[in-house]
Amino acid sequence: MAQQDNGKLNPALTHDMAYVTQAAALAVARLVGHGDEKAADAAAVKAMRDAFNQLAINGTVVIGEGERDKAPMLYIGERVGLRKNSDVSIDIALDPLEGTTLAANGNSNAIAVLAIAPQGSLLNAPDVYMEKVAIGPGYEPNLVSVLKTPVENVRALAKAKGVTPDNIRICILDRQRHKKMIADLHAIGCSIILIKDGDIAGVIATARENSNIDIYMGIGGAPEGVLAAAALNCIGGQFEGRLLFRDDEERKRAHSCGIKDLDRIYKLHDLARSDTVFAATGVTDGSLLRGVYQDFRGVSVTQSLIMQASTGQVSYITTEHRHIPDIASFMK
Ligand code: FBP
Repeated sequence: MAQQDNGKLNPALTHDMAYVTQAAALAVARLVGHGDEKAADAAAVKAMRDAFNQLAINGTVVIGEGERDKAPMLYIGERVGLRKNSDVSIDIALDPLEGTTLAANGNSNAIAVLAIAPQGSLLNAPDVYMEKVAIGPGYEPNLVSVLKTPVENVRALAKAKGVTPDNIRICILDRQRHKKMIADLHAIGCSIILIKDGDIAGVIATARENSNIDIYMGIGGAPEGVLAAAALNCIGGQFEGRLLFRDDEERKRAHSCGIKDLDRIYKLHDLARSDTVFAATGVTDGSLLRGVYQDFRGVSVTQSLIMQASTGQVSYITTEHRHIPDIASFMK
């Protein structure tokens, strides 16, 4: 049974979700560094779908690989799981390979990731950009906002922490569109950690004790925004996002997802609410997780991060996969 009577997800599902992200990560491992983004993504998608379809769940993909006519597997609206009558409905947000370019180029920080929640608890976000700002837990509500300038957000956070802005470390995607923001923040002495890809991990880092990231800001994918919010829903933190549209086609996409107010400011619980389970498995070594590797016996090993909002549990799981055939030489 996927959901308990009180609307909370059965904690046993955390194990199932780890299994699903591990399957995706293992499938990509052999393709890391081979320069073929399509093949890497396809392997992750197929493995994740196959893994879902072994589970006693009645899942609906609300954030997936795209519209039904564009994505053959794990498209938005696809039903996954064994879907017996007793399996209660859950919504799924997924990114089988977050950091496709990273994986294809053999770079760090690629992960396989998903979140589940009771039906209707995850925003059905269109595949457009989202302006985001996120900080960890323990601050007064609404301390940071996409309505404030980046410098105002940093000053507010610095004040709340009792430090000066030059003590604030900011995670930002390394993109041309962020050049002005980066210059403005450097001008007040901030330390900026630029990442090539993978802003879900960038957001989560704000809420992890040993990450040294105080705030995430900038423009990234909206689906990744929902996944990041689902993670912070488990461990605490603040997140705000606003959808950005480059043309009418993107606005149409939002309308077809049921979004009426295109200028809406989304708080964390507008993106992911009630009980959520978040699962991620490292594909390549990164700041959040170790990537797939082979131990001295040639056994494939994964590291996964699993958390659940209702139980408050955060687990790092190291798993040996003894029946996976030899994967790749890069992992030695
Ligand atoms: P993929 O999962 O498609 O590889 O996305 C990686 C990513 O870096 C996300 O983490 C981020 O939200 C988005 O791409 C940013 O988009 P863009 O590369 O267009 O700036």
